[in-house]
Amino acid sequence: MNKADVLLGLQWGDEGKGKIVDVLTPKYDIIARFQGGPNAGHTLEFNGIKHVLHTIPSGIFHPTAINIVGNGVVIDPVIFKKELDALTNMGVDFKSKLLISKRAHLILPTHRLLDAASEASKGKNKIGSTLKGIGPTYMDKTGRNGLRVGDIESPDFKEKYNVLVEKHKQLLAFHQYEYNLAELEPAWFTAIDALKQLTFIDSEHYVNDAIKKGKKILAEGAQGSLLDIDFGSYPFVTSSNTVCAGACNGLGIAPNKIGGVIGIFKAYCTRVGSGPFPTELDNETGEKIRQIGREFGATTGRARRTGWLDIPALKYAIDINGVTELMMMKADVLSDFANIDICTHYIHRGERIDYLPFSIEPSEVTPVYETVKGWNCDLTKLTAKEQLPKELSDYVKYIEKAVGVPITIVSIGPDRTQTIHM
Ligand code: IMP
Repeated sequence: MNKADVLLGLQWGDEGKGKIVDVLTPKYDIIARFQGGPNAGHTLEFNGIKHVLHTIPSGIFHPTAINIVGNGVVIDPVIFKKELDALTNMGVDFKSKLLISKRAHLILPTHRLLDAASEASKGKNKIGSTLKGIGPTYMDKTGRNGLRVGDIESPDFKEKYNVLVEKHKQLLAFHQYEYNLAELEPAWFTAIDALKQLTFIDSEHYVNDAIKKGKKILAEGAQGSLLDIDFGSYPFVTSSNTVCAGACNGLGIAPNKIGGVIGIFKAYCTRVGSGPFPTELDNETGEKIRQIGREFGATTGRARRTGWLDIPALKYAIDINGVTELMMMKADVLSDFANIDICTHYIHRGERIDYLPFSIEPSEVTPVYETVKGWNCDLTKLTAKEQLPKELSDYVKYIEKAVGVPITIVSIGPDRTQTIHM
């Protein structure tokens, strides 16, 4: 039976999913985003140019692949239009190969205002949201108030919009949040018109028909498993299911139609925004990783927090997602380290554990490390696995043994070509 593959992040996002989707797209007919929205920033580099995609799937630069924005995604028309404009400027013909689910929810200007109001009201407990309106939009989805892409075609779209905005105004008044909606609405409605040039589809039918016809589908996740609304470090998470099950909900694919699950992780860890991070390096070593790895948000520009690889967290994500193969990103960033630490266990309430407990706050878990030798050489021009330094091969084998899943790609730089197939 033909099945869809899923590609997702195993850490706190920013693992490098966009690059790998771009590398793998020639093997697929369809690339489909299943959750998240413009809080994501998927970065791709080829021919010396760097592109950041927020909502559009990362297969868009290939000539034949169809790219679907699934029902689980939330769309900000204004940001979506900017992405379309950037593609037009690059001469990418997206009209025939970019399809949007009618069931995907729309981010209204007031959702963004509510996001800002909610964060402001949380004070020092703020989530560190990207402020793209993601949380409030998913709240309206589950609260059964949301506006969907399919509603754009309805004659009473504007009326539905007004009803929802009235609700939002009451909430904004509750927050005593000041705003000027009249400044934001024209661009939003212009962008809604721009969306109309695309094809809106019943993506669940499209995807299931494609599976039956033997088409190769890759479901592209956003954020990472540790930001999942159910399994992440709640409440410091995003508002969608970033794990493999999210691909079932976010595209209408039955669990028995999921094939390979590709887990993407960095050779170290990063996190942007608030929340616990057991292996965080709030010191010179962390700063060195940040600078070499250019660890600044693709969406918000914020400095990312950095730390060593966390095996208990990785194993947790592998279990929840049913990962069948791993791809390790940014190995080149660790090239300048004589020694590398790997967190193998936690001490949790005096006991040594190798799983993720309910809380990973510093008061609950202390990471235990093993130190391995670094490779200390430039990797960025290597082209084959035989050329990898022994210490890096050992690092790969160490992780494979610890988690029990093979690593099939090691990425040694941001460009498409800097990819070693293992
Ligand atoms: P939100 O999804 O914008 O509300 O943000 C919730 C949390 O998830 C914050 O800590 C964000 O920094 C984080 N987050 C959201 N999207 C991404 C992403 O694509 N990469 C990394 N972190 C993200």
